Amino acid sequence: MATARSTPNIAFIKYWGNRNNDLRLPAADSLSMTLDTPSVEITVDHADTLSVQSFQANGSEKVLQEKDIARFQNHLDLTKEYFHQIGLASVISSSTSIILRSHIPSSIGLASSAAVFSCLARAYAGLIKDKTNLDDEQVSIIARLGSGSAARSIYGGYEALIAGEGDVIDSSYGMQVANEKHWLLHDIIIVPTQEEKKVGSTEGHALAWTSPYYRKRLDQMPRRQKECWDAIMTKDFEKLQRVVEEDCWDMHNVMQTSIPPLQYLNDETYRITDAIEELRESENIPVLYTMDAGPTVHLFCPDDAREKVLAFANAQKGCRIFETKVGRGAVLL
Ligand code: DP6
Repeated sequence: MATARSTPNIAFIKYWGNRNNDLRLPAADSLSMTLDTPSVEITVDHADTLSVQSFQANGSEKVLQEKDIARFQNHLDLTKEYFHQIGLASVISSSTSIILRSHIPSSIGLASSAAVFSCLARAYAGLIKDKTNLDDEQVSIIARLGSGSAARSIYGGYEALIAGEGDVIDSSYGMQVANEKHWLLHDIIIVPTQEEKKVGSTEGHALAWTSPYYRKRLDQMPRRQKECWDAIMTKDFEKLQRVVEEDCWDMHNVMQTSIPPLQYLNDETYRITDAIEELRESENIPVLYTMDAGPTVHLFCPDDAREKVLAFANAQKGCRIFETKVGRGAVLL
């Protein structure tokens, strides 16, 4: 038996679109910050058949749909395929039992798949640790097989998902850019709506190539990835802000021009991002925004701007606010 804990991460350079959807092999590199909270905990054990139990933040059991169970089964099958490939064919002989406890409030618009699959990958590594010691890169590959962005939450601080090339299962993996002690950035989350997102990321990724702007996006990605990486290493917030916002709008442009179009943002998102731009102009506050596959706005800022950004967030009517900061990633308990 093994238990792990992990948290979501928010991308500065977004992962959108795969070169191989079945193996979740991304079309381009991405870069993110791992959050400190909220967390999920997963306990795994060997079992004859797969069983998954999931408990929500309020302690009640969540009834999983067939497609949720199928995703865990598919992840286990791919994980076993990966183990086979690296010469560990029998470390998980038949199946597993999975008990998931999420502390992620369902209303804060934070996708839990990165936290869940990074946590599960770390727990699987713990389960087989008397037979072999997996390194973080190997654990990140197992995480990626469940959710692309989960490969990044294996690490604390700032981390990249390296796309790699080709179609082999381990050609794409996560790596740390800088650990959580490198730079204290806060993420102040403004949730304008509690609507469930209509099209999940997995279905969305598959549509990326139908946008006329997707190839142009891919051309820009290496430059953006490098600028973002450099900005983090040198703690250059202004440089970070420019490239993060450029990449965010570009991803949403691809989403909105795919067939069918995906509109994840709403009027409130645009109102809030406009207001942030004004605030930045008028008061010279270091703050940047980014949005994933939903209308939730993430405001990142260094420690000295935290209070002002929080005051701005709290002044947004009808929105829920959640505050977090850079964290340490997936750990074995
Ligand atoms: C917009 O990792 O959630 O948040 O592999 O299907 O689980 P799946 O996709 P996922 O995609 C993340 C999309 C994003 C951008 C990002 O986190 O990089």
